Amino acid sequence: MAEEVDMSSRNVIVTGAAPHSIGYETAKILASWGATVVVTSTHNIELMESSLKRDLRIIGADEKKITAHTLDLCDVGSVNNFTTWYQKNYNDQLHVLINNAGIHKNILNPRKKPPMTKDGFEIHWRTNFLGTFHLTSLLLPILKQNGLENGDARIINVTSHLHDRVKNKSMFNDDRGYHSWDAYGLSKLALIHFTFEIQRRFAKKYNLQSAAVHPGSVMTNLTQIKEFEGKIGYLLNQICSSLASFVLLRPIFGAQTSVMCASKYPLQGGNYYARCEIVESSDETKDQKVSKLLWDNSDAWVKTLVKNSRDGHE
Ligand SMILES: NC(=O)c1ccc[n+]([C@@H]2O[C@H](COP(=O)([O-])OP(=O)(O)OC[C@H]3O[C@@H](n4cnc5c(N)ncnc54)[C@H](OP(=O)(O)O)[C@@H]3O)[C@@H](O)[C@H]2O)c1
Repeated sequence: MAEEVDMSSRNVIVTGAAPHSIGYETAKILASWGATVVVTSTHNIELMESSLKRDLRIIGADEKKITAHTLDLCDVGSVNNFTTWYQKNYNDQLHVLINNAGIHKNILNPRKKPPMTKDGFEIHWRTNFLGTFHLTSLLLPILKQNGLENGDARIINVTSHLHDRVKNKSMFNDDRGYHSWDAYGLSKLALIHFTFEIQRRFAKKYNLQSAAVHPGSVMTNLTQIKEFEGKIGYLLNQICSSLASFVLLRPIFGAQTSVMCASKYPLQGGNYYARCEIVESSDETKDQKVSKLLWDNSDAWVKTLVKNSRDGHE
């Protein structure tokens, strides 16, 4: 378990904090330790915010520490609006960005390809990696500034051990048949490259540390099976979810490594963490040329997405 740290001088963003998720527990713990926390969801932020505030009240913490705002990582306008809103309302003060939001579609039916995003990307790549890259790029200037002023700012990217089922080359040209676990793994492999590249570029100069986290296998909305249809499908979904609940961690435990990386001082950035300690990521993640190429490509993709959205076509 992460050890409690006084977070009262820290502003934190946790993306993707729906009830029953890892992000929800991460936000709750950090706010209960005094951090000012902004949480996001694609919808229903009122429900999320009131539920978090109620939980904070129950444990005697200050409910005003939590605010929720809409963010859809697949929507350029939404990412822009969120960052503008944040900077204005929090006076450019941001110490920890926890890129936690993510999806994993068709877990039990992995050969079925989910629809592409409206701007033409594979949905795991667009949500888990490219949207996160876009959001982080917009917040980088204030993270660097806060790193310089306070001696410590952080970016925590929630990835997955499933990054190790795929190879670097598939991030640039994946010509194998579709498998949703590979698509998910690719987005998480990219996030680890992104983590290490942030560290190389900004740690020394701006005191900006970056860590990748595997939260464990956790019972959340993501691992709730909803893929079978009809009356029998409903029963199958219930049976799968009940079985899963025996083997998966509860979200409060899944949140621990993110919380530790967000709070423990000092943080050894540029590493991959699981169970609150540094662990080895796959050999693929150590290819620095790939990290740089991915950064350059992603920067170009995001610029095109932003331009297309400004010009009114996806
Ligand atoms: N659960 C596991 O076993 C496990 C294992 C390894 C890694 N992870 C990673 O842990 C992170 C948290 O997952 P979780 O298990 O807590 O899943 P979850 O309960 O499904 O929560 C995911 C959160 O991401 C948000 N999200 C989804 N699509 C988004 C989008 N387009 N834009 C912005 N936010 C979006 C969701 O938003 P809404 O609130 O709108 O639904 C939700 O709040 C993910 O990155 C996941 O890949 C989970």
